[in-house]
Formats: sequence, C-alpha cells, structure tokens
Amino acid sequence: MKKKLVAGNWKMHGSQLANVDLLSELVHGLASTAPACDVLVCPPAVYVAQVAALLQGSVVQLGAQDVSAQEAGAFTGEVSAAMLADLAVRYAIVGHSERRKYHGETDALVALKAQRVLACGVTPIVCVGETLEEREAGHAFEVVKRQLAAVIHHNKHCVSEVVVAYEPVWAIGTGKTATPEQAQEIHAVLRAQLQAATAHADRVRILYGGSVNAANAAALFALPDVDGALVGGASLKAAEFLSIVAAVQ
Ligand code: 13P
Repeated sequence: MKKKLVAGNWKMHGSQLANVDLLSELVHGLASTAPACDVLVCPPAVYVAQVAALLQGSVVQLGAQDVSAQEAGAFTGEVSAAMLADLAVRYAIVGHSERRKYHGETDALVALKAQRVLACGVTPIVCVGETLEEREAGHAFEVVKRQLAAVIHHNKHCVSEVVVAYEPVWAIGTGKTATPEQAQEIHAVLRAQLQAATAHADRVRILYGGSVNAANAAALFALPDVDGALVGGASLKAAEFLSIVAAVQ
C-alpha cells in the first residue's frame, strides 16, 4: 500500500524566526514516534534554503509552492525547477487555485510546470478543484477532469509520478471542508481518469485539501481514494499539524 502524504502549504506566511520555532516544534514532535506517512512542508521560496538547513537529518521533507514554467534565462523573479532540485526540494505544488486565480495560470501552463519539475526529479503536486459556482452548476467533475487532463496529455505515462491534490476552491481557507462523500466522489473520478492514462494509477497519491484540521483529518484519511492532505492554515500551528499527521493510521 502506498504511504500517505501530509503536506503543509505555508502560503505567504513565515519569517526566519517563526520558521525556526515552527520547525523545531514539528521536528521535535516527530522525533519520538516515526510518522506513518510522509510529511512535507512547503515554505515560501525565499525561505527554502533556510528550511532545507533546519530540516537536515529530520524525516520532514521539503517542498516548494510554485515553480517557473521556463527552464532558465531572462525571467526576472522566477525560480526554476533545477534551482529547487539544487536545494534538495522533493516536491513542488503546481496549479494551486490561488495561482490560477491571482496569476492567471492556465491548465496548459500548469501542465508545463509539472513537466519542468518532473524533468528535474522533483515531484509535482498538481492541484485541481472547482469553484462554488462551478459546483452549484453541476460542473465539478467536468472541471477537475479538464484540469487533470491537461497534465495527463502533456506528461503522458510520466503522470504516474505525480501527486494530485483535490482542493475545492470553496473549501480553501473557509472552514468549510468537503464532506467525506464529496471528497471520495471526486477522488474516485480522478483515480478512474488516471487509470485510463497509466497502468500505474494506483501508485498516484491523491490528496485532499481545503480546511483540513485535526478534527476532520481522520475521517478524510479513512476514505479509499484519499491518500493524504494538503494543509494550509493548520500547517502553521505545529500541534495541529502534528495531530493531522497522527491521524494517519
Ligand atoms: P486551508 O487548509 O487553509 O483551507 O488551505 C488549503 C490549501 O489551499 C492548501 O494548499
């Protein structure tokens, strides 16, 4: 059985001082009992080097929140996949709904970003998810399938190497989690889509994200197609994040 993954997306939060406090609590909390899942933190790009140093020797892995779609060159402000790999970054979130919404990222761009990180040996965490309007209009399946299809089309059989995160936009930062039924229903659709694309679909971890906390994590992790969580706000509180990790059986 594949190991679940609990990933913390810090978004635009943190400072050198706050990062030391959060990570020392986290690393200390995980030192006594080995977690049953992979544990990942994704700090802002500017702190990746600091966090890499702080995580030396710990089980906590390092991820990035985004990556450039370009390989290298005159792209002011961008961070390449090769640079992330150079800092021992293992995962990179691509296509987070906040990037799609505020930075106009398209399905095609997200698919290219996934390709860039895969080429550097970094695992993309491909985010998909519908807005409230799309759900209410009955288009949730169609939206997530379209978003994942772009990544499959562009990356072909390599799609077995990605992590997918279903993050319904209406559940992000709202305190409104998808019900276990809603999450499982979408995860099953995504799994079937992966099965049609690769013989290794069962190896792909499909995370749920959107107001995951210590109270709702266990019910989500019990679902057959939920292979972990992408956690926002609750990943900034060490005790809460540790409880989510502990909810993995
Ligand atoms: P919240 O857990 O704060 O809802 O954020 C989810 C998210 O967007 C993780 O990427």
